[in-house]
Amino acid sequence: MLNLNEVGKQFGGLVALNNVTFSVDQGEIVSLIGPNGAGKSTLLNVITGFIKPTYGTVQYKEKDITGSEPHRLSKTGIGRTFQIAKIFKQMSVLENVMVGYFPRFKSDIFQGILQTKHARKELNHIRETSYELLKFVGLEKEADVISGNLPYGKIRLVEVARALAGNPELLLLDEPACGLNSSEVLQFIEILRKIQADGKTILLVEHDMRLVMSVSQRLVVLKNGELLAVGLPKEIKENEEVISAYLGKGFVHAAN
Ligand SMILES: Nc1ncnc2c1ncn2[C@@H]1O[C@H](COP(=O)(O)OP(=O)(O)OP(=O)(O)O)[C@@H](O)[C@H]1O
Ligand SMILES: [Mg+2]
Repeated sequence: MLNLNEVGKQFGGLVALNNVTFSVDQGEIVSLIGPNGAGKSTLLNVITGFIKPTYGTVQYKEKDITGSEPHRLSKTGIGRTFQIAKIFKQMSVLENVMVGYFPRFKSDIFQGILQTKHARKELNHIRETSYELLKFVGLEKEADVISGNLPYGKIRLVEVARALAGNPELLLLDEPACGLNSSEVLQFIEILRKIQADGKTILLVEHDMRLVMSVSQRLVVLKNGELLAVGLPKEIKENEEVISAYLGKGFVHAAN
């Protein structure tokens, strides 16, 4: 579904990505892991067109999407969340999810302004389905809360619900569990499984190894912009290079 072919990115003299090649198959959850500064967020930004790679290509469903504009993404079927959440702090939680529908909003802008019956109906439909998405991520009680007042972990979930509103086939998540406590992480694992059961494909950047190891079919490990390993969770857990570069010896003991 997604192919990265020898992708490289340099910021001035800094090599953020060096010749990265891997792919994500339809229906998979693939996690991208590695130490801080490894290039994980840069890679998501390259896939989504926020950053143009210095070299290499990105293919989505066999089409070259390298450097295509981010706003076209929702139309191509790719949704994402950001490591630093991009929410509208003054808007309610529900409204922040509704925003995710607007690329698909049918009535044109004048109808919207004139509040025609059709536009009103469509807006009501969006409101209802956004509420369903809030239920899906367990935030329906917070629907009317001003988003800026939410704790950090919940803001990440608002972003996930908003990304789902675009009905993506491929969802890219940058540290969605950051700020969640341990029972919230368990709930989030179930949310990811439900998203996958809905037929969606997920590329996940995450430091919470319990989450990563329990939901991923495959892992991709980056270090200093280079691909260190690709494999099944159990292979990666036992990979000496990955253990010394990222997981640490303590992880191996904890995992056994
Ligand atoms: N816009 C930019 N300009 C210059 N350097 C950048 C830019 N974005 C990222 N970098 C650098 O590229 C490298 C990779 O950063 P990136 O944010 O992709 O890492 P990461 O793997 O997501 O790390 P983390 O786990 O801390 O989020 C880092 O050295 C970072 O400082
Ligand atoms: Mg990052």
